[in-house]
Amino acid sequence: MQEKAVQPARPVLLDIDGLTVTYASSRGPVTAVNNLSTKVHAGEFVSVLGPSGCGKSTLLGVVSGLLRPTAGQAKLEGSAITGPRADVGVVFQRPTLLPWLTVLENVLVPVRTMRLPVKQYTERAEALIEMVGLTRFRNHYPNELSGGMQQRVGIVRALVHDPKLLLMDEPFAALDAMTREKMSLELQRIWTEAKKTVLFITHSIPEAVFLSDRIVVMSSSPGRIVEDIACDIARPRTLDTMEQPGFTAACNRLRRLFDKIEAAAH
Ligand SMILES: Nc1ncnc2c1ncn2[C@@H]1O[C@H](COP(=O)(O)OP(=O)(O)O)[C@@H](O)[C@H]1O
Ligand SMILES: [Mg+2]
Repeated sequence: MQEKAVQPARPVLLDIDGLTVTYASSRGPVTAVNNLSTKVHAGEFVSVLGPSGCGKSTLLGVVSGLLRPTAGQAKLEGSAITGPRADVGVVFQRPTLLPWLTVLENVLVPVRTMRLPVKQYTERAEALIEMVGLTRFRNHYPNELSGGMQQRVGIVRALVHDPKLLLMDEPFAALDAMTREKMSLELQRIWTEAKKTVLFITHSIPEAVFLSDRIVVMSSSPGRIVEDIACDIARPRTLDTMEQPGFTAACNRLRRLFDKIEAAAH
């Protein structure tokens, strides 16, 4: 890991500029994110890492167009994000599949919502389902699948309309440790093959180190960026990567940083 992130010579895809979100609550206004700025370049895998309540989901809410900022803005390829858009895919913590639809039908939901040609996109959906090893289950219903399989369907659904940017809000948090590791490998492969830009939210240090080109560390009250770290461990990363000294050192450094953040918060 390097002290300061080296900016890759790729165009900026997502530009988050002076973003502030203040919620009205019964105890008065709560500033969840305060004056947060960062840029994500095309093809980059960036993780936002921070303790619970530091404003990660709020940040993602703005970038996904579901939440209006109080000040500042998020821009995608230069245009302000003011609502949900077709060139962004979102994966949430729970797969939120429709129980009455099959795997293939669930994957096609964004295609129908966006009124894209279903026949043409069915081929793409089937190719993506194959990519995550679920071809045998394409006509199964969500309740016939394991949690990990459902989450893979959720990821494929977010990719079906070929968005430029994939947003993921703690997508593996509800899975057991073994499945989580497998899903990280799977996501790395999807990211490599589909050549997407990913903004990945997590509170797991090893997950962030394993997946990211860059890790943006947030601290709470109010949510802000305290560190922006390049993660240059060689790819493709495998389960062996997690035992390498570089990986362990990166995790330890982030753990120490978190201890400091928490000590400062109390
Ligand atoms: N709708 C809301 N109304 C009031 N406060 C909120 C709302 N949503 C989130 N918050 C507060 O904003 C802060 C950041 O929340 P959130 O973005 O969900 O954090 P994270 O995803 O990092 O856990 C927390 O203090 C939370 O209680
Ligand atoms: Mg959250």
